[in-house]
Amino acid sequence: MNNLILQDRRHVWHPFTQEATAPDPIPILSASGATLHGADGKSYLDLISSWWLTTHGHAHPVIAEAIAQQAKKLEQVIFAGFTHEPAVHLATALAEKLPAGLTRVFFSDNGSTAVEVSLKMARQYYLNRGEQRDQFLAFDGGYHGDTVGAMSMGATTGFFEPFKPLLFAVDTLPYPQTWMGDQTVEAREADSLAALDSYLETQGHRCAGLLLEPLVQGASGMRMCRPEFIQAVAKRVKAAGVLLIFDEVMTGFGRVGTLFASEKAGVTPDIICLSKGLTGGFMPLSVTVCRESIYEAFLGESFDRAFAHGHSFTANSLSCAAALASLSLFEQEKSLEKVAQIETIHQQRMAAILPRTSLEKPRITGVIAALDFVTADAGYGSKMAPFLKAFFIERGLLIRPLGNVLYLLPPYCISEADLHRAWDGIEAALQAVESSA
Ligand SMILES: Cc1ncc(COP(=O)(O)O)c(C=O)c1O
Repeated sequence: MNNLILQDRRHVWHPFTQEATAPDPIPILSASGATLHGADGKSYLDLISSWWLTTHGHAHPVIAEAIAQQAKKLEQVIFAGFTHEPAVHLATALAEKLPAGLTRVFFSDNGSTAVEVSLKMARQYYLNRGEQRDQFLAFDGGYHGDTVGAMSMGATTGFFEPFKPLLFAVDTLPYPQTWMGDQTVEAREADSLAALDSYLETQGHRCAGLLLEPLVQGASGMRMCRPEFIQAVAKRVKAAGVLLIFDEVMTGFGRVGTLFASEKAGVTPDIICLSKGLTGGFMPLSVTVCRESIYEAFLGESFDRAFAHGHSFTANSLSCAAALASLSLFEQEKSLEKVAQIETIHQQRMAAILPRTSLEKPRITGVIAALDFVTADAGYGSKMAPFLKAFFIERGLLIRPLGNVLYLLPPYCISEADLHRAWDGIEAALQAVESSA
């Protein structure tokens, strides 16, 4: 066995992995564009952007150079009482690009912390205004990260059973997932809105915020909903004086075709959480951006009103430099046009497989294309997942199904030929599943 794998197996503990049964991890030496280069000489086409991070491509020279230059100048400085150019320039650029009104940027390190910050911010915002609001609202199947607050908000995903006694109670609403050709979505949306109305009527005054993944719930299976639904939710929540918090950790930075899903949904939240694609997938960094009126509620003479939250690496300057370089690439490389081209190919190839009986609920938005394999054991624990993962890896394709849900979420630099190769792989997988049934 390769020495690196032996050492890995001796000392490393991998995330979201059953180490007793998982195949050996694949050592990757380097990466470029949409391709990972393995130590075994094999290449793997990264069709999930390495957990939804990579935007412009792996090891992009512009971002690599920005990090290298920044590392020679200032790698890190305490962010309480000090500031630096990359952070200020990034906050300014984000405020310009985000929907109008989202102006105040709080930095942290990853998607989960961005969500924790949003919850604490919402709770203290009301407290500072003299209101006791200690409830939060979420959607069934929403995933928001693995820290305790984020797990509480995402408890319905089923990922957190061992930790349930540690989580705080959160009210959840039914989520009206939809797909191509769906004729029944309006009834499901009406049910969900009725549940929201009845909650707001009795509990609205105690609720600090509704947290949701706009347009696509990622981890629970790339479950999509309509912009009209998000708009109807926003209208009700705002009328009830409850803060609307968007978790755009996955959907942000072009995934759904606009820079932020908020734009495509036509809704500006009160607070937005961003991470993953923020640095082009190079460095850990996240931001929680809020309206100025929320920030102003923390101002005053006493420290008690201040936001007592911070991480050692807050606004790390290398991460901020990477994020600035990544933002500039969206314009230089016309990334959103590339996203539109990817979406067109997704639509063509999905149309070709629609008649197959082994799939259902086909859905596409931006670079995200997903379908469910029809199986008796649907869900995250489905046996389809390890079978399909191995099937694709064998063919040099990194596609990591979420249970029986198969999806593509490629980086924007992927070539047409490579994207077609991925869809050819999906067709072969459908064939294999159908012939073994
Ligand atoms: C929508 C959403 N929110 C939050 C998170 C948590 O982000 P992280 O894994 O960086 O903590 C994720 C991660 O997949 C996510 O998809």
